[in-house]
Amino acid sequence: MCGIVGYVGPQSALDVVMAGLKRLEYRGYDSAGVAVLADGQLAAAKKAGKLVNLEKELAERPLPAGWTGIGHTRWATHGAPTDANAHPHLDNAGRVAVVHNGIIENFAELRGELMERGHELTSETDTEVVAHLLAEEFSATADLAEAMRLVCRRLKGAFTLVAMHADEPDVVVGARRNSPLVVGIGDGEAFLASDVAAFIAHTRSALELGQDQVVELRRDGVTVTGFDGRPAEARAFTVDWDAAAAEKGGYASFMLKEIAEQPKAVFDTLLGRIDAEGNLTLDEVRISASELREMDKVVIVACGTAFHAGLIAKYAIEHFTRIPCEVELASEFRYRDPILDAQTLVIAISQSGETMDTLMALRHAREQGSKVLAICNTNGSTIPRESDAVLYTHAGPEVAVASTKAFLTQLVACYLVALYLGQVRGTKWGDEVRAVVRDLAQIGDAVERVLGTMEPVRQLARSLADRNTVLFLGRHVGYPVALEGALKLKELAYMHAEGFAAGELKHGPIALIEEGLPVVVVVPSPRGRSLLHDKIVSNIQEIRARGARTIVIAEEGDEAVVPYADHLVRIPPTPTLLQPLVATVPLQVFACELATVRGNAVDQPRNLAKSVTVE
Ligand code: F6R
Repeated sequence: MCGIVGYVGPQSALDVVMAGLKRLEYRGYDSAGVAVLADGQLAAAKKAGKLVNLEKELAERPLPAGWTGIGHTRWATHGAPTDANAHPHLDNAGRVAVVHNGIIENFAELRGELMERGHELTSETDTEVVAHLLAEEFSATADLAEAMRLVCRRLKGAFTLVAMHADEPDVVVGARRNSPLVVGIGDGEAFLASDVAAFIAHTRSALELGQDQVVELRRDGVTVTGFDGRPAEARAFTVDWDAAAAEKGGYASFMLKEIAEQPKAVFDTLLGRIDAEGNLTLDEVRISASELREMDKVVIVACGTAFHAGLIAKYAIEHFTRIPCEVELASEFRYRDPILDAQTLVIAISQSGETMDTLMALRHAREQGSKVLAICNTNGSTIPRESDAVLYTHAGPEVAVASTKAFLTQLVACYLVALYLGQVRGTKWGDEVRAVVRDLAQIGDAVERVLGTMEPVRQLARSLADRNTVLFLGRHVGYPVALEGALKLKELAYMHAEGFAAGELKHGPIALIEEGLPVVVVVPSPRGRSLLHDKIVSNIQEIRARGARTIVIAEEGDEAVVPYADHLVRIPPTPTLLQPLVATVPLQVFACELATVRGNAVDQPRNLAKSVTVE
């Protein structure tokens, strides 16, 4: 949510910052802006809309060359996405520029105080107050880092701030509380960004800032302090992917690229976690086996697509461990006073590792004495840092706003955790664990096969371009898959889409069925629980009898569904529990194609942002 870049060094600050913003545009694309320091003056440009509007503005009215700069791509919270509300925000004298991600909760009060002192505030944002406060503190201290510390101590809420001042031309200062900010260390240059993708083309050497820290960037190094001014430590790490991983690589969209990368992502997430004998070795899970044996409940918290991964994980965890597992939307979790104690294992699932709802849920759980295991795709992000243990998914950078490969790897991680719990608690024998692990190891190839047969799905999607509603049905683990298919269609194609448990249809939603309504049905394997399969075949007949146009996703060799399928999408046979790993893929392709044919921005759906750092 909002992308931030800062740069100090020998290169053109504008070029570095604009290239960084391009990489961060997934975080917000309501407006964008930059500021550079040139000849002791600040020069800024900002524009509502996507980054391309700012590029046009800069082509028409170029900024002077400078070597210190900051930039921002916005997902609006306070104030509409207009030019005036775009960042950077400047003080009245135009000497300080600031960009911000997050929400300053006491901004109205601070704004009132500033106006009483004669400041003129021209935007509707909460950010602008920071520019004015920094200007005041700088005039007293002549030290931007100190001014930032003083200001941060007065702010309430969650924020990442990056600022520069015309009187300190070779300095950029950043601060973070509950919002992401990483530092890139180059040779005679330094970078600040919401995500390493912004500077990966220049350096892979990074620092993760802790909570309530201020960093001062100069060409010859960085200094980190707490908001209280005491020297502070920031953890150094090396980014383990390169610039090419953050490029489209010949695909029309990041989403298409990321869908295609799923076999590798699944494979990579299994890598190093299975020993030569086929046993699970989750070394990173730093909650001891004895503690895991004590757990009497698992609670999963997550949002959106990650929540759907959690819903599927519940089936695996309860099946493999016989411990009750609850799955809860992170945004609801702490408000209902959940029952948590030291015997509760909380699993927080998040691709970005920055989702504020999930972060707040895990903090609440830890306050109640529960241990938190994070399943996360982003090294150095806040959620794993604040958890007791982490299992990283190795999907690589996911840039498209709609989650695809991260979802599949979250599922793999969930199955691994479920099996691991079963292994340490002794509810699964070694050979049983090894058998599932063997099945998991085959899944990458199965996903590859699905990807090779998607042309009819794309054709079908194109034929539905003018429809308004699509329903999705599933049972057992197919139910969360149906929810995920509906979510993908909503967010990408802007169509009304709903997922239902197929058995629930007759309790109300069946009234929605009318002549020609497309209904996607995820059919469980006929080789699994035959009862489950038979029930869903009856459900398909029920909706078809009422005029639905059925799109049936069923295993190769499942002949029972053939008479009732207007469109049949085949997936390779997999064990019932693992079926979501293959059944989700056609739904991703379906949504992506429908979005494309409807002329929507596939990678950047309207109103959304990749990393949701507000509650
Ligand atoms: C949907 C989607 C979102 C995210 C959700 C959680 O395609 O991507 O629903 O899954 O915002 O994000 P993370 O996983 O970063 O916590």
